Amino acid sequence: MSTPKNNINRKHKYFMKLAYNQAGKVLGNTGENPAVGCVIVKNNVLISLSHTNFNGRPHAEKIALSKKKINFKDSILYSTLEPCSHHGKTPPCTDVIKKNNLKSVYFSKFDPDKRSFKKAKKKLSKYNIKTFENVYKSVGRNFYRDFYISKKTDNIYISSKLATSKDLFISDKHNKWITNIYSRGRAHLLRANHDSILTTSKTILKDDPMLNCRINGLEKFSPKRFLIDKNLSIPVTSKVIKTANNIETYIFYNFVDNFKLKKLKKFKVKTIKIDLKNNHLNFNEIIFFLKKKGFYRLLVEAGIKFNNFLLENNYINDFYHFYSNELLGFKGSHNAKFFFNRINKIKLNEKEIRINLFQDKLYKYSIK
Ligand SMILES: NC(=O)c1ccc[n+]([C@@H]2O[C@H](COP(=O)([O-])OP(=O)(O)OC[C@H]3O[C@@H](n4cnc5c(N)ncnc54)[C@H](OP(=O)(O)O)[C@@H]3O)[C@@H](O)[C@H]2O)c1
Repeated sequence: MSTPKNNINRKHKYFMKLAYNQAGKVLGNTGENPAVGCVIVKNNVLISLSHTNFNGRPHAEKIALSKKKINFKDSILYSTLEPCSHHGKTPPCTDVIKKNNLKSVYFSKFDPDKRSFKKAKKKLSKYNIKTFENVYKSVGRNFYRDFYISKKTDNIYISSKLATSKDLFISDKHNKWITNIYSRGRAHLLRANHDSILTTSKTILKDDPMLNCRINGLEKFSPKRFLIDKNLSIPVTSKVIKTANNIETYIFYNFVDNFKLKKLKKFKVKTIKIDLKNNHLNFNEIIFFLKKKGFYRLLVEAGIKFNNFLLENNYINDFYHFYSNELLGFKGSHNAKFFFNRINKIKLNEKEIRINLFQDKLYKYSIK
């Protein structure tokens, strides 16, 4: 039976859902900062909404409260993340909230950044502004997994994507594509939702991919490109090198070839020497580099060898399987059965999401 309390909770959840819709728009595009959505409501009317700006500043709350000709006094602010209360590169959002005389603030997750963690309530209560946390907590837990990993561990959040035929081949000997245009469009969106993308020289040599987002209007959300190329074998004629002056591109290598390094520099490719571990580039060093540079949402689009390595060593947080309905049979190469057997063992109790993409399907596995 619906009680007044249930209705109030439903209302807060509804507005928080709108705030999450806002945050989702900038996922992967807020630099070192988290993607935050904010909604402001007065007398049950939505009066302002916003999300963190591209590259992370200004914060969502600041933008939502900077709309001209609106009197925010006694309104309610919903934010997906606890408003910041520290002086960083911008003044604290709690100050902006106070300045606008809001009545109360609802947020979904505490900010894991220790400069702000669990501080907003105390700070705002001094100005008689009430705060309520954990609204829509279950969504928040999943949405901010990446930011929590980046702030609370030495890791970054890693997703990997593989497209396969119905018989689990990841390559077609005769054709470039094994999935349909809807799957490929969705894969481009996935790229736009990550701040960095990584592949291997093997994949570049075989496919010559661009690794950018080519959805009309979303091109600027393309992730920065990172290439694993131990022996600097990627030719300068490949698309990723030729376009490095437009999309930031890095090569991790070990074998020093000064002539090639100079050539790459001319193409504006940044090169980073990485030590070897078990005869491959040390992946922990690569993670360390990405983290130091402020990246925390990495998408891997590599072949089966590298994916096996990531899975065996527990690096993958989320895995996306674009699953075609077509059998490849003798036309198929690089079979991924071993990889999927492993995934099926790991994921037993994990959440699985399925999206239909016409004849193809997209499965998302939350691995850790
Ligand atoms: N369907 C899809 O979604 C998809 C996506 C990407 C690629 N592909 C296909 O995948 C094929 C390439 O697959 P692949 O398996 O040959 O290559 P891969 O998995 O892309 O790359 C393997 C290479 O990764 C490097 N590597 C670095 N660290 C490693 C580690 N710790 N363990 C293992 N390898 C490590 C190794 O190069 P070093 O020996 O130089 O270290 C190794 O040769 C291509 O045919 C491409 O079309 C398909």
